[in-house]
Amino acid sequence: MAGGAFAPASGGKEYPGKFTGRVFLTCIFAATGGLIFGYDLGISGGVTSMDVFLKDFFPDVYRKESSVKPSDDQYCKFDSQILTLFTSSLYLAALVSSIGASIATRTYGRRPTMMASGVLFAAGAIVNGLAKNVVMLIVGRLLLGFGIGCANQSVPIYLSEVAPYKFRGAFNMMFQLFITIGILIANLLNYVLARWVGGDTAWRLSLGGAIVPGLIILLGSCFLSDSPNSEIERGNYEKAKDLLLKLRKVDNVDEEFNDLVEASEKAKLVKHAWLNIFKRKYRPQLVFAFCIPMFQQLTGMNVIVFYAPVLFKTIGFGSNASLFSSLITGIVNMLATFVSIFTVDKLGRRKLFLMGGTQMFICQIVITIAIAMKFGLSGNPGVISGTYAGAVVAFICIYVAGFAWSWGPLGWLVPSEIFPLEVRSAAQSINVSVNMIFTFVIAQIFTAMLCHLKFGLFICFAVCVVIMSIFIHRLLPETKGIPIEEMTTVWRSHPHWRKYFDEDDAKVETRPKDIVSA
Ligand code: BGC
Repeated sequence: MAGGAFAPASGGKEYPGKFTGRVFLTCIFAATGGLIFGYDLGISGGVTSMDVFLKDFFPDVYRKESSVKPSDDQYCKFDSQILTLFTSSLYLAALVSSIGASIATRTYGRRPTMMASGVLFAAGAIVNGLAKNVVMLIVGRLLLGFGIGCANQSVPIYLSEVAPYKFRGAFNMMFQLFITIGILIANLLNYVLARWVGGDTAWRLSLGGAIVPGLIILLGSCFLSDSPNSEIERGNYEKAKDLLLKLRKVDNVDEEFNDLVEASEKAKLVKHAWLNIFKRKYRPQLVFAFCIPMFQQLTGMNVIVFYAPVLFKTIGFGSNASLFSSLITGIVNMLATFVSIFTVDKLGRRKLFLMGGTQMFICQIVITIAIAMKFGLSGNPGVISGTYAGAVVAFICIYVAGFAWSWGPLGWLVPSEIFPLEVRSAAQSINVSVNMIFTFVIAQIFTAMLCHLKFGLFICFAVCVVIMSIFIHRLLPETKGIPIEEMTTVWRSHPHWRKYFDEDDAKVETRPKDIVSA
């Protein structure tokens, strides 16, 4: 039976709590962690399309690219594993560091992990901005990757824990909003620097500029307090209650506080989160911690984010026109994120996933047909008219908007809210690692895919979008409006997943009321 007919049980919980300025600012500061990820996602594609940068570091690619005539096969002119390794190496580092960061978020808290991300990212920016050879470039990329691993591990969990549950979707999506702002700033900088500054200075400023988002998250997290859940996890009950009172701005937070304490007590019984997460009772969530980030990357969005300038150059745009078109996709990406921020807690997660999926699928088919008609198998487009180029850019923008109000933000929201506290850090680390592995794979194989699959490139992603939409339709319970520490109830009552829970689990979860009195 499809999961669509399923209505979740929230356990009847209605914690009091207002939409306060404090919680808003706290979330904004934390969400700036998304800037470093976004800046990096957006910067490398533009830099690798700058001729001076290619000449300095990848002269072979430069020679190959500049010797291709307009009448030659355009699909393969950027096919270089070394060049893609420059982009993708960072995601391997992020993968490794997210495992360490999961221990840090649990042992030291979410906030120190965010601070570490700022320091590592700023260090990476300095090394990259001053790079003299490919080794320095790669070392810089690795440091940036360590920073991103820490931020992506700590920020989404922090946001989901701090936000009042009724607005959790919107607050958590601030992270994605800042990712898109980071991408946009990077696109803008690439365009301005390549066009008006040029030379070595252009790419040095683009890469070195990463220090700014690094410092923002570092300074931002100095002003934050940790999440109440994290304070309780580390035994600081008084501090946690105090925090909760300030965040919710009501006189009595006992019910929520007691439930957090209870979740924490249960979590303490679990000594090895990494082993426990593979237990049968966490199987449903584990499936999602793996599949959601994998599917997010298999939408093909990062082909646009990383390689839009390369893609636009391939379909016949000049260097500046390519960077300008990427800028347009960056603006659409950011603006469309607001749609999900304003609708996710009303429409729910499932509807957005399915609507965005349909929109992306239609655009992928249209883009494939458009490229096939012009470039065919030979990759020689002849003369490209302005109308044709404009139409391709328009459909790429509609595709980007579809991602931006569905799989983009939901890809971070859903995994951060479905796990019980005892395995939350470990699960988020799986989520980040899988995301990074697939980001790496897409970044690494894109130019080869374009070269070999030609216009069929987007068809692969379109097939994946169909599969992931069926997966969501059948298996994802709606998590809108469910308090985070009550989430097990939605799995327990889901027609497909309930078989993973037995009577004993239910007994453990029967709450002993008022563990900690007011
Ligand atoms: C994804 C990134 C992607 C970005 C685009 C994020 O949610 O994790 O891989 O580049 O969205 O906005």
